[in-house]
Amino acid sequence: MSTADTYQAFADREARDVSPTYHRLSRAVARDPELLALLDTLPEAKRQPNLLFGVVRLRGGPVADPAAFRDHVLAHWPDIAAQMRVRATQTNEAGRCAVLLPVLAALPQPLALLEVGASAGLCLYPDRFGYRYGDRRVGDGEPVLDCALAGTAPPDRRPEVVWRAGLDVHPLDVTDPADLAWLDALIWPEHTHRRDRLRAAAAVAAADPPLLVRGDLVDDLPALAARAPAGATLVVFHSSVLYQVPAARRAAFTALVRTLPGHWLANEDPAVLPHAAMPAPPDGGFHNVLALDGRPLAWTRGHGQAATWFG
Ligand SMILES: C[S@@+](CC[C@H](N)C(=O)[O-])C[C@H]1O[C@@H](n2cnc3c(N)ncnc32)[C@H](O)[C@@H]1O
Repeated sequence: MSTADTYQAFADREARDVSPTYHRLSRAVARDPELLALLDTLPEAKRQPNLLFGVVRLRGGPVADPAAFRDHVLAHWPDIAAQMRVRATQTNEAGRCAVLLPVLAALPQPLALLEVGASAGLCLYPDRFGYRYGDRRVGDGEPVLDCALAGTAPPDRRPEVVWRAGLDVHPLDVTDPADLAWLDALIWPEHTHRRDRLRAAAAVAAADPPLLVRGDLVDDLPALAARAPAGATLVVFHSSVLYQVPAARRAAFTALVRTLPGHWLANEDPAVLPHAAMPAPPDGGFHNVLALDGRPLAWTRGHGQAATWFG
């Protein structure tokens, strides 16, 4: 896909109806030969809209007005390009726990959670957050995660978690102001509720930090999984990670994870983790697919705001 197509697709599938600012900006970049030529000097994996927009916001640049954004990027390109080369989109969205919860709550308890691509590990606390599925509340923790759930009943309890560990090539630390600033910059401009959620989830993690290990989801997974306590159901899970992993490594990961004890829970873009025999998605927006042990269960919206069960 060309860089112009990437930005147009991001506008149409991800930002439309979710972030008017990024919808406008990504459409403008898709039509701007000068900006596209600069982006094309970067490795393909580093040209993504979320990375460009996040870096510009981190460095204090404007995103509300496409013309001001353009001027800023042209004037500061060496700094922006350097940041894009060393950073990755590490958006850590606790809201995704709301789509994982119906599965986690139904597994044999207690759980030992191992998240690959954990970023700062905020999705490792599904037992601590509060949930609102329509008018049904589950748990009384903070932040409260709203999710429009269709096709299945909301869970009636939160899981019991006795061990939580994360694996990431570049783990972030929510107690480090620089890491928190990057996580904040990655949240889309209008999403004040997600910014509040980040602070609340970061407080949960800071009060009881998870075991976060720097490592690769293939090379270092068996050793970390071996540290899970006996007597708990091991759940290796991941959400919005595999699009960052080259195809051969994705294949190595999916082969490896099936050999581990316990369960494998994936919440990923079906373009990078395909499934046979899927029903059509509920609408034209971007959806991940939630799958347990390779079996697809639900379409889920990118930040956990909705899930449509079919499995
Ligand atoms: C978009 S973030 C998602 C974070 C978290 N799963 C969530 O849903 O909020 C993707 C994370 O995957 C990590 N990652 C990418 N490739 C990886 C690899 N080969 N091994 C481990 N982590 C990886 C990145 O560093 C990043 O923190």
